[in-house]
Amino acid sequence: MMVANMPEIDFTSAAFRHRLINGGGRGQALARAVGLGKGRKPQIVDATAGLGRDGFVLAHLGAEVTMIERQEKVAASLARALQSAKNAEALFAEPARRITLITADAISALGPLDPEVVYIDPMHPARSKSALVKQPMRDLRKLVGPDKDSAELILAALRCAQKRVVVKWPRKADLPPAIAKPSYELNGKTTRYCIFLVGK
Ligand SMILES: C[S@@+](CC[C@H](N)C(=O)[O-])C[C@H]1O[C@@H](n2cnc3c(N)ncnc32)[C@H](O)[C@@H]1O
Repeated sequence: MMVANMPEIDFTSAAFRHRLINGGGRGQALARAVGLGKGRKPQIVDATAGLGRDGFVLAHLGAEVTMIERQEKVAASLARALQSAKNAEALFAEPARRITLITADAISALGPLDPEVVYIDPMHPARSKSALVKQPMRDLRKLVGPDKDSAELILAALRCAQKRVVVKWPRKADLPPAIAKPSYELNGKTTRYCIFLVGK
């Protein structure tokens, strides 16, 4: 029987420090996708927290972030990593204090949160060039498997988001057929951000 390792989460690592400092600030595609601009700090629900990296970057850029993770071991690991970050220097402690973590399935948890912006980054089936994927993400993939219900999650987000829903998706893969065309997209090397402006 294959036993999946618990992915290591450490927001205070040298590599993550580098990402926070040199990741491009509010000009990076992730920040632009969620609408973080000068003077604009939307409340963001990261509906697929995983290793928490995207959500932590957004909190570092000033957003209040609610992370939702349904896999209990991953959520427990995230909670420990957030606690360690709170006890570390300000670079890590300040964003960690802007993050709330909920252990739940976002499909049902999103509605009551009345979110302004929902960010969704589901687990996709393994890419052939898996050497491009770093070890913690490979461990996470082994533990959670592909998220086969991501269309349901996107539809739930589109029903309740006040301003926008952002879906991170492989650059060359189609969105699920049940999902309408996004308002616009921002492309990265291997992934793209599909942005749905919902304006309730
Ligand atoms: C690809 S990972 C996200 C990685 C994350 N963006 C990061 O920066 O580390 C996807 C995660 O979303 C979680 N997930 C998928 N669907 C979910 C749902 N409906 N509710 C809560 N968590 C979900 C999975 O358990 C997995 O941990």
